[in-house]
Amino acid sequence: MTPLLQLERVERRFGGLKAVDEVNLSMVPGEIVGLIGPNGAGKTTLINTITGVHPATGGRIVFEGAEITQLKPHVIASRGIARTFQIVQPFPQMSVLENVAAGALFAGRAPSLTAAREAAIRHLEFTGLGALADSSASTLTLAQRKRLELAKSLAMRPRLLMLDEVNAGLNTAEIDDALAIIRRISASGVTIMIVEHLMKVVLSICNRIVVLHHGQLIAEGEPQAVVRNPAVIEAYLGKRYAGAMAGGTT
Ligand SMILES: Nc1ncnc2c1ncn2[C@@H]1O[C@H](COP(=O)(O)OP(=O)(O)OP(=O)(O)O)[C@@H](O)[C@H]1O
Ligand SMILES: [Mg+2]
Repeated sequence: MTPLLQLERVERRFGGLKAVDEVNLSMVPGEIVGLIGPNGAGKTTLINTITGVHPATGGRIVFEGAEITQLKPHVIASRGIARTFQIVQPFPQMSVLENVAAGALFAGRAPSLTAAREAAIRHLEFTGLGALADSSASTLTLAQRKRLELAKSLAMRPRLLMLDEVNAGLNTAEIDDALAIIRRISASGVTIMIVEHLMKVVLSICNRIVVLHHGQLIAEGEPQAVVRNPAVIEAYLGKRYAGAMAGGTT
């Protein structure tokens, strides 16, 4: 299958630090890829590099057959790549609806304010925030702000969506709700990359896992195989986790 996204030896340096170090990766349409690795591994930087926020200092990024490596973030967004932010930052003085409508206008190619508001209502209903459309974004709980991030990114009508720790800080019930939404997004035809520390989430939702460590891709493949990979256990999961997996208790 033709890849949707292809990274060829992608590098992002910050001074002397290679936060992303010659990463080769491709994603095919429809898959959900889990991006895991220890704190500081380069996961968020990889998303920032793909989306043009911190452009690659080496290598090539190709999306739907066209090189996007050095394009500006708003151009990349309008090509069909959206992301959520690890630290959620809604415009607090705006309503929930206006926050999402801004996304629809910014990159969702909404032709008018009315169209942007209509799209926003659809995305808020899709993410279960319909009843809060007129509330001020500053009144939302963390779980609701994370959903607002999802609705904002969907308003950009992406074909590739990158989710950066959308479940961090949520309780079990909130995570279950978020996973149901992510599954619905996937079923609607959007290809997804999800950065996630909770292995239960990764294993329940991802078709494939990619592991970063010190900026380098150290493993990738089918989830159950990757979590048994000794290099991944050593770098990230730890021996206790591996023992629990082997015993079938997680
Ligand atoms: N804007 C920046 N300027 C300088 N260094 C940066 C910048 N952004 C990230 N880094 C560094 O790049 C490395 C990778 O950071 P990154 O935030 O991508 O890791 P991460 O895998 O997302 O970690 P976490 O799981 O904690 O979110 C770290 O050493 C970090 O300090
Ligand atoms: Mg991060």
